[in-house]
Amino acid sequence: MLTKTTADGAGATLVAEPRKTSRAVKPANESVTKKAAKPLTIFIDGEFVAEEDAKISVFDHGLLYGDGIFEGIRFYNGRVFRLKDHLDRLWDSARSICLEIPMSHGEMTEALLETIRKNDLRDGYIRLIVTRGVGNLGLNPAQCKRPSVIIIATTIALYSAEMYQNGLTVVTVPTHRTGPGALNPAVKSLNYLNNVMARIEANLSGADEALMLNDQGCIAECTADNIFVIKRGEIFTPPITAGALRGITRSVVFEIAAELGIKISEVDISRHDVFIADECLLSGTAAEVIPVIRADGRVIGTGKPGPISLRTIARFREITREGGTPIYS
Ligand SMILES: Cc1ncc(COP(=O)(O)O)c(C=O)c1O
Repeated sequence: MLTKTTADGAGATLVAEPRKTSRAVKPANESVTKKAAKPLTIFIDGEFVAEEDAKISVFDHGLLYGDGIFEGIRFYNGRVFRLKDHLDRLWDSARSICLEIPMSHGEMTEALLETIRKNDLRDGYIRLIVTRGVGNLGLNPAQCKRPSVIIIATTIALYSAEMYQNGLTVVTVPTHRTGPGALNPAVKSLNYLNNVMARIEANLSGADEALMLNDQGCIAECTADNIFVIKRGEIFTPPITAGALRGITRSVVFEIAAELGIKISEVDISRHDVFIADECLLSGTAAEVIPVIRADGRVIGTGKPGPISLRTIARFREITREGGTPIYS
């Protein structure tokens, strides 16, 4: 065991020295993007190109500096789920980092739908990226004349069916969620190294996901998911001010709770609250809604997904098939 001091000065325990463990510890889950049988067709700056020709400049500041924004969006049964919410958040991210998206909402919607159609998909995942565009090697974005828009439509399976049934394990990781004084956690930027580090730390511990704290020691969220704990029939989730992304799936969990008559509150949550919870859930576009049954080695509740988790997941699955922006009509 090693104890290291993190950048904010808090002592944090790493499970082992990375050099020694990285050989053996297999990630408990892998983000699997299953390629469609035929090569994908990808949208780049107004053109549809074959996957092997889908290339951007090495001088794009999205690559050089992580300067850009993105959204992950799902579509179910021929309809895009909560498209407007995703586009609104994309435009908010853009505004926050002074990036002008070179398309209207309407044009973006059409480009997105057409990308799915070109790939002949009905259920899947869209990665929508807007980079700062091509500049020089200096980081000043004033050199970048036009942002680039990239749309990838494919399929994704983040976790196995067994994990949805039996639940995930999570571990608290040393890397904190950035606070609003640094890269504001509300911006869904291309700069995800913080979350990537947290993910690596979870992998090194053999856990399925990472619990990320904020600098106050409260739980913010996981690496790409919001977190909920359930205690005595009520649901609690960290507020946006704790560093949680305003997740679109999170908002669906709020809707489900209201529908089921379950009280849901935004409150600061510590690791203690997770350890003593009856149930725990994660939500995210890619992960959807998935139970957690163990945190930092402690069994949560009975160690099995609880009744509120199961009802929430079941209702979530129904809702994903109920509405959405039609792709093929
Ligand atoms: C850091 C982070 N938190 C939470 C989420 C979940 O948000 P959503 O439900 O909108 O996908 C995501 C994924 O978008 C994320 O990247």
